[in-house]
Amino acid sequence: MGKVIAIDGPSGAGKGTIAKLLAGKLGFSYLDTGALYRAVALALREKGINPEDRDEKLKNTLSVTDVSFKNGTIFLNGRDVSEEIRTTEIGHYSSVFSARKIVRDFLLEIQRNASLNADLVAEGRDMTTVVFPDAWKKFYLDASVEERAKRRYLQLKEKGINITESEARKDVVERDARDSGRDIAPLRKADDAALIDSSSITIDEVLENIMKVVRTSH
Ligand code: DC
Repeated sequence: MGKVIAIDGPSGAGKGTIAKLLAGKLGFSYLDTGALYRAVALALREKGINPEDRDEKLKNTLSVTDVSFKNGTIFLNGRDVSEEIRTTEIGHYSSVFSARKIVRDFLLEIQRNASLNADLVAEGRDMTTVVFPDAWKKFYLDASVEERAKRRYLQLKEKGINITESEARKDVVERDARDSGRDIAPLRKADDAALIDSSSITIDEVLENIMKVVRTSH
C-alpha cells in the first residue's frame, strides 16, 4: 500500500483544487471520491432509480455498474462522464444517494484499491475517518458558507450553468446539512486531522500550510 494523504471537508472548500496541486507537486496519484459518488448517482438516475427506492432496486443497478477514476477522468461503464456528473442535479442526487449504506459499501473497495500500487492524495467527506483511517497525513479543509457559496456560483457560471448566487448558497447549505447529518460516515473533522480554513487565504497559502505539515513528517 502506498502513502495516503487524506483530505476531507464540505462542498466548495477547495479540496479538489488543492488535492490536484498537491498530488502534482509530490508526484502522487489523485483521487476525487466525490466524482465516484456522482458517477454512481448518474448510473442510478439513468436507470430511473429514485431516492426512496429500496436497496434491492439499487443493488440490481450497482451489480452491473463499473466506476473508475483515472488521471482526472471519471468513467462509468467505460464511458467518460467527467462533464455529465458536474450538473447541480447530479450534485444533489450524489449527496442524497451517498447517505445509503449500499452505495457507500459499493465504493469502499474501489477507493481503497486506488492506494494499493500508488501514493495517493484522496479527497472527499470520509477519507480521514472511514476510508483511510490510517492515512499518512490527514487534513480537514474548511471555509465559510459565504465563501464556499461564492466559489460554487462562479464555478457553475464558468461551466455555463444558469444559477443565481442565492441558489448556490442554498445548495451549499443543503448539502452541508445532508453530508454532515447522515447516519453513516457523516462529514466530520477527524481528531487527528489538521484543520485549514481557506476562507481568507490564497490557494498558494493553503498549499504551503499543507506542505509544512507534510514536510514535518516521517
Ligand atoms: O465533492 P462532491 O461535491 O463532488 O461530492 C458529491 C457528493 O458525494 C457529496 O455531496 C457527498 C458525497 N460524497 C460522500 O458522501 N463521500 C465522499 N467521500 C465524497 C463525496
